[in-house]
Amino acid sequence: MQTQETMSVLTSPPSLPLVAPSILSADFARLGQECRKVIESGADLLHLDVMDGHFVPNLTMGPALCKSLHTMLPDVYLDVHLMVERPMEYIDSFAGAGTNLFTGHVEADDDPFELAKTIHNAGMDAGLAINPPTDVEEILPYVEAFDLILVMSVNPGFSGQAFIPEVLSKVETISKRLRPDQRLQMDGGVGPKTCESCRDAGCDVLVAASAIFGTDNYAEAIAGLRGH
Ligand code: DX5
Ligand code: ZN
Repeated sequence: MQTQETMSVLTSPPSLPLVAPSILSADFARLGQECRKVIESGADLLHLDVMDGHFVPNLTMGPALCKSLHTMLPDVYLDVHLMVERPMEYIDSFAGAGTNLFTGHVEADDDPFELAKTIHNAGMDAGLAINPPTDVEEILPYVEAFDLILVMSVNPGFSGQAFIPEVLSKVETISKRLRPDQRLQMDGGVGPKTCESCRDAGCDVLVAASAIFGTDNYAEAIAGLRGH
């Protein structure tokens, strides 16, 4: 499962912010090559968007795809973002598929404390996500139990949507509550025009799909998001 190298990405990052390409905008017919290419272009981890057609109106990928990527790129940290109603039901299958970070939503049906405990017991880092319309107060009681908090900056379901700037105040509120070993991730509409405000607000893991896979120079796109 987790190797020494992959386990250290969140708690001992090579530098911050980390850049996490979301493979949702990759060419699925050439997925393995695309993933290798973004890692060789400087990405720190891979972000996999799992959608169940209920929590969000789209269907994407599952543990089998995660396992194939883990087999091909065993040292790459796999960040799995579950936009599903019952994330608890998928913990074992994603742990067995080589997932390093398992992120569920505070809006999903499962109890976040129970979720964090079960994810940790399965040997993965635990993340908790919050959607744009949800009040920041809904997530604050659970923040201490997680390794990463994900603030969604679009309504989840599809890549290529416009960034919702109102969520930046949520980032500022949450970042004040975090320990140095906890990360704050932004996901949705993060690109050349929005990445600086995300970094300034306190985000240290930036997810981007279209702003990386929609360009013909992944290294330049990743360096631009990182800002150094
Ligand atoms: C949205 C997903 C995102 C998405 C981001 O539901 O959670 O990870 O792929 O896509 P961009 O970066 O294009 O907004
Ligand atoms: Zn995502």
